[in-house]
Order: sequence, then structure tokens, then C-alpha cells
Amino acid sequence: MPLETGAGLRYLRPMQAITLPRPDDWHLHLRDGAMLQAVLPETARHFARAIIMPNLVPPVVTLADATAYRERILAALPGEMGFDPLMTLYLTEGTDPADVERAAASGLVKAVKLYPVGATTNSHSGVRDLAKVMPVLERMAAIGLPLCTHGEVTDPEVDIFDREAVFIDTVLDPLRRRLPELRVVMEHITTEEGAAYAAEGGENLAATITTHHLIINRNHILAGGIRPHYYCLPVAKREKHRLALRRAATSGSPRYFLGTDSAPHVDALKEHACGCAGCFTATNTLSLLAHVFEEEGALDRLEGFASRNGPAFYRLPVNAGEIRLEKRAEPCVWPAKIVSDTGPVTVFDPGFPVYWHVLP
Ligand code: DOR
Ligand code: ZN
Repeated sequence: MPLETGAGLRYLRPMQAITLPRPDDWHLHLRDGAMLQAVLPETARHFARAIIMPNLVPPVVTLADATAYRERILAALPGEMGFDPLMTLYLTEGTDPADVERAAASGLVKAVKLYPVGATTNSHSGVRDLAKVMPVLERMAAIGLPLCTHGEVTDPEVDIFDREAVFIDTVLDPLRRRLPELRVVMEHITTEEGAAYAAEGGENLAATITTHHLIINRNHILAGGIRPHYYCLPVAKREKHRLALRRAATSGSPRYFLGTDSAPHVDALKEHACGCAGCFTATNTLSLLAHVFEEEGALDRLEGFASRNGPAFYRLPVNAGEIRLEKRAEPCVWPAKIVSDTGPVTVFDPGFPVYWHVLP
């Protein structure tokens, strides 16, 4: 029987579907106010929990700041949606170790975020001199509270495409040698050096990988015209690095898990002479990941990456609920933009059709 041709194929081919424990996003920007209101449902629709980045203006520095921000997030959540925001503190040179310890004990705060000064959006209150925050890092090592790193040096002498690798050699590795008990998440790795370092770091080290860094390389941003909606930090690198990230994410290693770094900016600030960094992927991340993992022949490993490895590192239970994706003949249709009261936000466009639908 000619199963390969004609309309019968669709009918005869077994439907592909996967069911996952409800996933988490281990690196997310929700912002505040009108933007928070607009983007929160995009994440809460699919994800049970997310690690919420603290780079607001002013930043979320203290337990009191994080408690108030968490309340604002919960207040913005549509009534029918369940979502647990896992809060982080923004590490400054004035951060009080005792406040960090109280924050961890409260159960609301799950990590502290290190932004080197000037590394990215709203990082001007970050850390210039690591020596000044050693008392905080020592306390975190003692109590087991993870440090999430924006792993790029900011020295203007260092080429932007090398900043992650140089950070690993000159900041992260010396820090981990000095404080081996410190639990570290290398956020949004973008290089084969980052993936290799995370692989060898033992159980106190993990790395998040974004959806977009599995899909784009630097040519997508720059060749044939500049595409501001693909610009993020750390910036996407050469193709060999994208392929290394794909191997890492689909390897089955518990050292890697999903952190979308979904980072909304209104179009007016992306399509600008000095555009903001950030890709907004909350809306379509799960469909895109199913596509990528299928391409890599690793659909069975999506569950580890999106639903299990993160909770294992953060010492939290895997979510009880489930989410189902089905591969259909017709491509997914997403809104091109999310409407917010501060302006439209462009949803990440992978540039190819995707057939993995998240069931409602
Ligand atoms: O692309 C990015 N956007 N990278 C970051 O590190 C920050 C983020 C943001 O807050 O917009
Ligand atoms: Zn981020």
C-alpha cells in the first residue's frame, strides 16, 4: 500500500505527542506594572514556576523588595492561572549577608543574581569588585543558596564575542576554586566553552540554556540586514557554539536546564539606534523546544531539560501537573506581538514553521 504519498499519509501516520511534567522557566524577566500585566500570562499559561530576574529599576535587592515584587506578580496573575514566582535578589556591593540569609530562610528567595556592572539591561547597580561581595558569597556557600551569574566580563578591551569565555577563566573559575561549596548557575550560556565548563563542574554547578540560543547564531542577527529582535545578551555566537548548546541541552546531562531569559522590551526600544537586548520567547518556547529536540533526535530528553533537571538542582519537587504537546499537520500560529499598555512586544520569530502545538 503506498503509504508515503497522498492524503492518506496524514491519516495513517501515528500522531506524535509528548506529555511532560509541567515545566519551569529557570530564568525569566517579568518587569513590572503594565508590562508585567501583559507578559505574565504568556509564561503562566505553560509554566508552573519561574526564577524571576531582579533587574528592575530600582533593582530587587532586599528580602523586603522581593516580597513586595512577588506580591505584585501574584496580583497581576489572572485568577484562573496557578503560578509560583521564585524570587531572586540582585547582588550589589552593599548587600547585607544577614538579609540574604533571612531571604533564603523565608523560602521566597531561591537565588542571588550577579550582574557585573554594565554587562546588560539595568546592571549599573551590579558588582564591580568581587572582593566586596565575598562575605555575601561565603554566607551563600554556607547555607546552600545558589548564585546565578550573568557570565560576561565588561572590560571594553574584551571583544563582545569573547566575554563569556573570558568570564569563565578570569572570574568564575577563580571564584569556584576559592569557594567550592558555592552553588552556581551559569545563566544563558552561549559558547562551547560555557557548555564544557558546566559539564565538568560537579553537582554544585549547572547552566541554563535559552530557547533562542538553540535556534539563532550571529548570522541571523547581522547577515542581510540587522534584526534587532534577535539581539540579546550574551549575544548569539558562531554556528559551532549553537551546535554545542544543542548537544548540551539534548545530552540528557542534569547539568543543563531551561532558562528562557525571555526579556520583553517594547518595539520602540528594540527598533532603535541603540536597541535594548532581549528576545521575548515566553509565548512559543515549548513548541520551539519540541521542534529543536525532535530535530536532534532527542524528544525523550525534553522532559529532563524542561521539567526535571532544574528542580533537581534547586532542590524542589518536580511539578505535579502535566502539559501535552502534539505534532500536527498545520503549523502553530502565534500572535506576532503581545500588546501592553506601554507598547507592543514582538514575539520571537524562529524563521521556520513549527508543528508542535501545546494543548490548552
Ligand atoms: O538579552 C538580555 N536581556 N540579557 C540580559 O542579560 C538582560 C535582559 C533584559 O533584562 O532585558
Ligand atoms: Zn536575563
